[in-house]
Amino acid sequence: PEKCVVAVDGPSGSGKSTVSRRLAAAIDGVYLDTGAMYRAVTWAVLQGGADLGDPDAIAKIALETELSIGTDPSAPHFAANGTNVDAAIRGTEVTQAVSAVAAVPAVRKHLVALQQAIIAGQPRIIVEGRDIASVVAPSADLKVYLTASSAARAQRRSAEDAGSDVAATEASLLRRDKLDSSRAADPLKQASDAIEVDTSDIGIDEVVAYLLNLLNSKV
Ligand code: C5P
Repeated sequence: PEKCVVAVDGPSGSGKSTVSRRLAAAIDGVYLDTGAMYRAVTWAVLQGGADLGDPDAIAKIALETELSIGTDPSAPHFAANGTNVDAAIRGTEVTQAVSAVAAVPAVRKHLVALQQAIIAGQPRIIVEGRDIASVVAPSADLKVYLTASSAARAQRRSAEDAGSDVAATEASLLRRDKLDSSRAADPLKQASDAIEVDTSDIGIDEVVAYLLNLLNSKV
């Protein structure tokens, strides 16, 4: 396609990142990882020593954080306030705190505006997150909702992190799912016009091929 916006939503470990990056590369487009934006802001909030129970303190730091957002599907580098955070945003500290930061309405408002500005400047973009189809890009050309059983998601995540424990990973995923689905501001939920793909038992190659076909038939 010459122009397209694709929204890829779903819970942690459903294969969103791999599928989105592969799709972006296949259409010579860019890739926006909105979860990494929430993670980078969370890193800054933790650096700033804000109390995670204090939404005003969180919002203040979030709005002051200068983000550098990489959109290259083969190497999407992120920096916050001039520091590269690619490794830090995947660490346990950030992973445990990110849902609390992402639940603050002022943080979401700020990041959604940044996301929409990035999308507006790109001819072809794959955007992954939790609220892309419903809030960030409601007029996306294709809306995908990726799911998988929590066991399959935990398997995938712990295979990515060498040495991590599958049971602990599954517990951590389920905890974040619960927080992300139950928050008041833009909770994780499937948009009514999104196509659901369960990736528990099918390979990533198949998912990518299926979505590419779908996209080519639409735009
Ligand atoms: O996708 P990832 O696991 O990196 O997202 C990290 C966290 O960021 C999620 O658990 C969720 O709390 C938040 N998030 C969000 N809205 C998005 C993307 C991520 O609230 N669009």
